[in-house]
Amino acid sequence: MASDLTYTDYLALDEVLAAQRPLSTHHDEMLFIVIHQAKELWLKEMIHEVAYAQAEVAAGRLPPAQKALSRVSRIQAVMTHSWEVLGTLTPADYLSFRGLLGSSSGFQSAQFRELEYRLGLKDPHFLRYHPQGGAPRQALEAALATPSLYDAALAQLAAHGLALPDTVLNRDFTQPYQPSAAVEEAWLQVYTNTTGRWELYELAEKLVDLDDALTTWRNKHVLTVERIIGRRRGTGGTDGVGYLQSTLARRCFPELWSVRSRL
Ligand code: HEM
Repeated sequence: MASDLTYTDYLALDEVLAAQRPLSTHHDEMLFIVIHQAKELWLKEMIHEVAYAQAEVAAGRLPPAQKALSRVSRIQAVMTHSWEVLGTLTPADYLSFRGLLGSSSGFQSAQFRELEYRLGLKDPHFLRYHPQGGAPRQALEAALATPSLYDAALAQLAAHGLALPDTVLNRDFTQPYQPSAAVEEAWLQVYTNTTGRWELYELAEKLVDLDDALTTWRNKHVLTVERIIGRRRGTGGTDGVGYLQSTLARRCFPELWSVRSRL
C-alpha cells in the first residue's frame, strides 16, 4: 500500500547503498567508487532530459526543451564541481589501489557515450567497447540512429524558413556530423536578426551553454588526471593525458562556435 511506502523502499536504498564494493581495504577507494557512481546517476538524469529535449525540439516546441536543457547545464556544473572532491585524492592514495582496476576506465562509460551521441557527437567507433546484444549497446545503437539534439535543431532552422541542403537535413544520422557552410550561414541569419528569430536565438545560446559546460568538464578532468597520474598511460589503454587533451577540441554544435568569428 502506498501509505506504507518508506523512504528506503521508494529510493531502493538497500540496492543503491549495497552497490559500493571496494576491491581493496584502502580507505580512499570508497571515494573513487562513489564519485563514479554519482556521475553515472547524473548521466542517467541528463540523458533523460536530453532525450525529452530532442523530442520537443523535433516537434517544434522550443520553450519546454529549453527548460530541460537549463536543468542539464546545472547538472553539468555540479559534475564539474565534483572534481574538487576528487582532487583530494593524492597520487599515493590512488596508486595504492589503481593496480586493482584492471582495464576499467571512464572511457567505457556507455552513458557518457550515449549523452555525446544524443547531443550530436556521433562516433560509431565507440560501439565496439560494448558487447553486441547487451542493454548498453542497444541504448547506444538507438541513440546513434535517432537524430541528435543538434540534428533536431537544424531541422528547426529549416522549419523556420532558413535554407539548408538535403545533405544536412537527411544525412545518415548514425555517422559523425560534418560542419557545413550552409548551416553556419543559417545561424548567422539567426544571430544577426535576434528579435525576428528569438526562439532560435535562445535555443542556440542554450546549446552553446551545454557545449561550454561539457568542455569545461573535460578540461577539469584532464587537469585532475594530470595531477593524480601525471603522464602515465590510462587504465583504458590510451596514452592518458594526451588522449584527454585531444578530446578538448570536440564540439557538439560546431557552427555555433565558428559563426562567432563572423558576427
Ligand atoms: C583518479 C581519477 C581518474 C583518472 C586517473 C582518470 C583517467 C582517465 C584517463 C587516462 C582516461 C582516458 C582513457 C583511458 O586510457 O583510461 C579517462 C577517460 C574518461 N574518464 Fe577518467 N579518470 C579519473 C576519474 C574520472 C571520473 C571521476 C570520471 C567521471 C566523473 C571520469 C570519467 C571519464 C570519462 C567519461 C572518460 C572518457 C572521456 C572521453 O573519451 O571523451 N574519470 N579517464
